[in-house]
Amino acid sequence: MDSTPRDPAFYVERLKGLLQSSSRAVAFTGAGVSEESGIPTFRGKGGLWDRYPPSLYANPAGLMLLFLVRPSWMAAFFSDILDSLLRAKPNPCHRVIAQWEEEGFIKAVITQNVDDLHSTAGSVNVYELHGNAFRVRCVRCGDREKLARERLLETAKKLNEAPQSRRSLLRLFFDFGGSCRACGGRRRPDVVLFGEGLPQEEWDRALRLATEADLFMVIGTSSLVYPAALLPRIAAESDARIVEINPEPTPVSSLAALRIPFPAGKFFSLFDVS
Ligand code: OAD
Repeated sequence: MDSTPRDPAFYVERLKGLLQSSSRAVAFTGAGVSEESGIPTFRGKGGLWDRYPPSLYANPAGLMLLFLVRPSWMAAFFSDILDSLLRAKPNPCHRVIAQWEEEGFIKAVITQNVDDLHSTAGSVNVYELHGNAFRVRCVRCGDREKLARERLLETAKKLNEAPQSRRSLLRLFFDFGGSCRACGGRRRPDVVLFGEGLPQEEWDRALRLATEADLFMVIGTSSLVYPAALLPRIAAESDARIVEINPEPTPVSSLAALRIPFPAGKFFSLFDVS
């Protein structure tokens, strides 16, 4: 018989107790925290990789191939992602994490998400391991710039407008990135694709946070993608208590002192005061 308590109030009290007895708590999030904001996760039924095989859509070589032979598929993929990113609003999970940082209960949030929802919700110490879709980065000098929402809306509109040719996609891509304000170099979306390295500063900071944490909350991630998936293991080896919030078990579940088997937005709405 499953002895897991089903009453969310049980977990609320346990998590409150853990937070109050910690002084260096950190949240580590993945796509699941934004699922209730309308952004699909990657893996599992209905996930992005169900519709768009990652061997083609998630790495530079695959995208280049698509661009050459199926530019309209590439346009449909970008349009699909941009539409969901632009529609999404923070949910109770993003809001409570931001509130806990403001109240001094957590030090930072490390996220694999590129959707900007933690910052939109008010989190300040946000370490984005896989970049941010609302930012561009110079391929020459690395300078980063946040883009106005209108720029993304305009791009989404153009992507939706007409069947895309290689030429129109290329023009759209260059217009989107524009030129670097520091060195004039070409800019690309500041997101990490498979096979690319993580931003060094964010990764160094995340490693330090995981090593120093006394409570490490792993929320809405399958913990399958490395090196990010190392962080809960590093935190556990450094004696942090691990809390997992995810309706499905993951490879991290066996490390968890507390496993909370609920959707994150629904669970955090029990704390949400706004
Ligand atoms: P995944 O799609 O691999 O996993 C999402 C996790 O969220 C699963 O474990 C689900 O059970 C869980 N989940 C779904 N809905 C949830 C909800 N409402 N509340 C809480 N949990 C929920 O996403 P990530 O682990 O974030 O990388 O994937 C990691 C990386 O793989 C991504 O950052 C991306 C992808 O390839 C890059 O783009 C480099």
